Formats: sequence, C-alpha cells, structure tokens
Amino acid sequence: MSYIEFKDVVKEYTMGEVKITALNNTNFEIEKGELVVIVGPSGAGKTTALNILGGMDNLTSGKVIVDGRDISNLNQRQLTKYRREDIGFVFQFYNLVQNLTAIENVELATEICKDSLNPKEVLKKVGLENREKNFPAQLSGGEQQRVAIARAIAKNPKLLLCDEPTRSIRL
Ligand SMILES: Nc1ncnc2c1ncn2[C@@H]1O[C@H](COP(=O)(O)OP(=O)(O)O)[C@@H](O)[C@H]1O
Ligand SMILES: [Mg+2]
Repeated sequence: MSYIEFKDVVKEYTMGEVKITALNNTNFEIEKGELVVIVGPSGAGKTTALNILGGMDNLTSGKVIVDGRDISNLNQRQLTKYRREDIGFVFQFYNLVQNLTAIENVELATEICKDSLNPKEVLKKVGLENREKNFPAQLSGGEQQRVAIARAIAKNPKLLLCDEPTRSIRL
C-alpha cells in the first residue's frame, strides 16, 4: 500500500442550479519520501486536490488514504489533529496573519504542534534572517511567500503540501 492513495475521488461543487465537477474520478498514489509535482491549467483541480489531501475540504465520493488511514472518514476532532500535527500547507495566497511579524507567523504554527523546528533557523533557511521583525505588509510578495513556506516547514510535518509555492518568487 502506498503512503498516499487517491482512489476514484470525485469533488462536485453545487452553486444553485450549476454543478461544477472539480475532480472527476481522480486516482494517484504517492510513496513515502517522494516529491511530486501536480501540473495542469488553471481550473484543473490542483487546489481542490491539495485541500482534500490537507483535510480542509471533503469529497463527494471516493477515498483518500494517508499512512493507512482513510482521511475522508475522520470526524472533526480527528481532522483537526490531522491538520495540526501531520500537515504543513503553503497556501496559494499565503494567508499570513497581517498583524503578526514574520517570525511571529512562524512561531504561531510551531506552538501548536509537536517536534517543530526552530522558527529563527527556518526563516534563515528561506533567506529571511533580516526580515524577522517585519509585518507581511512590509514584505514583497516573494518574501511573504517565503514566510508562508517557512511557516509550513517549521511544523516539521509528515506531509508538506504546497499550492503554487513559487508563483511570487524570482531568484
Ligand atoms: N468553493 C468552490 N465553489 C465552487 N466552485 C469551485 C470552488 N472551488 C473551486 N471551484 C471550481 O473547481 C474547479 C477547480 O478549481 P481549483 O481546484 O481551484 O483549480 P486549480 O487550482 O487547478 O486552478 C474550477 O472550475 C473552480 O472554478
Ligand atoms: Mg489553484
């Protein structure tokens, strides 16, 4: 059995009379330690798949197995634990807390999980050792994105899910 299994996953959104099928029988498997990139045009369902894998959205039908557990069957309490302890998520639009500094944004994430990494060191890893005290509004788009990446990495999660994590970063 693979570490991650997406089995016949269907995700439909209903907006009034209109039904949008974001995922139509999606199947894939990912092994432990694998680095996988999902490529597709905008609207293909990449964010939807990541949100489901991250325990942030439910599916219409199918199964999602992570580390031997069917996460589509978890209750709210178990899902919260899963998101908190197992998942690091880099959001497409960063989702930084605007009234916290770069280092505080990272600390906020590390405080809620076990085995987290040192926030200062992780910020240094993404090249932001001189931006610790800056608020998101004082950072460029790429720098904000790097804070978001640091925040996800610092949790030291089992699964690091990144939604277009380099869209604002030009090196
Ligand atoms: N909350 C939502 N309600 C209705 N439709 C949605 C919602 N989220 C995504 N969609 C639709 O699902 C499809 C897949 O979206 P998305 O997963 O964001 O694509 P991608 O990330 O590949 O650009 C799109 O057609 C989008 O309009
Ligand atoms: Mg997307």
